[in-house]
Amino acid sequence: MASQDPQDGRGKLAVVTGASSGIGLELAKCCAQRGYDLVIAADEAEIEEAEQVLASYGVQVQSVEADLADLDGVDELYDAIGGRPVDALLANAGHGLGHAFFDQDFDDVRHVIDTNITGTVYLVQKIGQDMRAQGNGRILFTGSIAGFLPGSFQAVYNGTKAFVDSFAAALRNELKDTGVTVSCLMPGATDTNFFARADMLDTDVGSDHDAMSDPADVAKAGFEAMLKGEDHVIVGMKNKMQVAASRVMPDDMVAEQHRKMAEPGSANKH
Ligand SMILES: NC(=O)c1ccc[n+]([C@@H]2O[C@H](COP(=O)([O-])OP(=O)(O)OC[C@H]3O[C@@H](n4cnc5c(N)ncnc54)[C@H](OP(=O)(O)O)[C@@H]3O)[C@@H](O)[C@H]2O)c1
Repeated sequence: MASQDPQDGRGKLAVVTGASSGIGLELAKCCAQRGYDLVIAADEAEIEEAEQVLASYGVQVQSVEADLADLDGVDELYDAIGGRPVDALLANAGHGLGHAFFDQDFDDVRHVIDTNITGTVYLVQKIGQDMRAQGNGRILFTGSIAGFLPGSFQAVYNGTKAFVDSFAAALRNELKDTGVTVSCLMPGATDTNFFARADMLDTDVGSDHDAMSDPADVAKAGFEAMLKGEDHVIVGMKNKMQVAASRVMPDDMVAEQHRKMAEPGSANKH
């Protein structure tokens, strides 16, 4: 029988989305190091390489290649779990989209919303309902400090993360006294494939690797917060200060600062 100690993952199952690279792969490693068996998902074939890496920790790993922007893709992941009780759900899959909103392709815009919001809340509802019925479970969202910032030149993405940060806090309150905890990891700029995928390598925020967090450090902070059942974690003093400042500054000033970080061509200008 699985231990009640959340630090001991032996005999327990964790589901990690977006586990093929970056923060999600590191979150999955945290789970594997504690002995959790894993069901991992991402959209591309690289998820099979992640499966091999994670299996080397001596845990059972099953990978699912599915587009989690699509409800059918989420159903595929849920079906792959096969009714096993899920002890931890790390809803991390997501992506950004740089450039001015009117210059973005609407299919790309919609894919950001469908991945970061629709697919995420659909998966969390399906697995979370099972957790509530079983009387225990840990849910970790990967939100972002972007959720506090009106994100000029990443406007849709920041809006999706405002949703995730807010949704996680509300769900946490709804689930108090059920045995299911909800935590939200809120990273700042982190050195992953994120900025390349969002076509933001020519921006200040997307090119300053020295200022970025290490995805392994970010994941560790999120994983520990999840095990302790903490509400949220902002990683790094600079990010904590940026969030604190954004709460007292007028929105147009925050948006102007975001422009300086995220406008195409802003790399090396500041
Ligand atoms: N890096 C940052 O600066 C930063 C800061 C704050 C928050 N975050 C958040 O952290 C999370 C992880 O991002 P990351 O920085 O680790 O970037 P990453 O290295 O690009 O990883 C993103 C992961 O999400 C998966 N994914 C994206 N869209 C998907 C979809 N529609 N269906 C299935 N899988 C999908 C990717 O798989 P495929 O490649 O197969 O699509 C990949 O495994 C995201 O939610 C992101 O918003 C990142």
